[in-house]
Amino acid sequence: MALIFATGNRHKFKEASELASKYGLELEMRDVNYEEIQADELEEIARHGAEKACALLGRPCFVEDAGLFVRALSDFPGPYSSYVFRTIGNEGLLKLMVGVSDRRAEFRSVVAYCEPSSGPMSFEGKVQGSVALEARGSRGFGFDPIFTPRGASGRTFAEMAIDEKNKFSHRAKSIEGLLKWYLRKSGGRLEK
Ligand code: IMP
Repeated sequence: MALIFATGNRHKFKEASELASKYGLELEMRDVNYEEIQADELEEIARHGAEKACALLGRPCFVEDAGLFVRALSDFPGPYSSYVFRTIGNEGLLKLMVGVSDRRAEFRSVVAYCEPSSGPMSFEGKVQGSVALEARGSRGFGFDPIFTPRGASGRTFAEMAIDEKNKFSHRAKSIEGLLKWYLRKSGGRLEK
C-alpha cells in the first residue's frame, strides 16, 4: 500500500515521489481539504495539518509546509509564503528587494507524518541561497524562479529538473528524513 502525501500541489508530489522511488517506496497523492492553521512556526502548521488530514482519511499520511525566509526582510514571508505568493508574487517580492544588496535567503520545509493511533512526527529540511536579481526559468512552482541555492552556480530552482532540485532542496531533506525514519520503523513494509 502506498504512503499517502496529503497535498493538492502536484509539483511537491512529484519531487517527493522521485525521492521515495529511490527508497523503494510508492507515494499516493490525496488532495484532502483539511483546515490549515496560520502560525509563526512551520512545524506547528505541519503537525496540526497532519493530524487533521489523518483524521479525515482514517489512514496514516503526511503533509508538508514550506516557506521562503529572506534575511534582509527579517525572515519575511516565512510561514506567510503562500499568501504572499498569491498576492504580490515573484514580481512583488523582487520589488521589495530593489536596492537590497544582502540577498541571502533560506527555504525551509517541515514534513509531518501521523497515524490514527499516534501523534505526529515531524522532520525539517533547509537550503540556504539567495534571491536572484530577476526571475529565471520556467520549471517548478512558487518562488522557484527567484531562488538560487548555494552551490548551484547562480542557477535558480526553476532552471533545474526535479532530480537536480532534489539535490539541494529543503523539501528533499525533510522528505528524506521522513523516508529513512519510516523505513526503519516499518522494516521496509508500508503501514495499512
Ligand atoms: P506551502 O504553504 O507549503 O504550500 O508553501 C507556501 C508557499 O511557499 C507556496 O505557495 C510557494 O509559493 C512557496 N514554496 C514552498 N516551497 C517551495 C518550493 O520548493 N519552491 C518554490 N516555492 C515554494
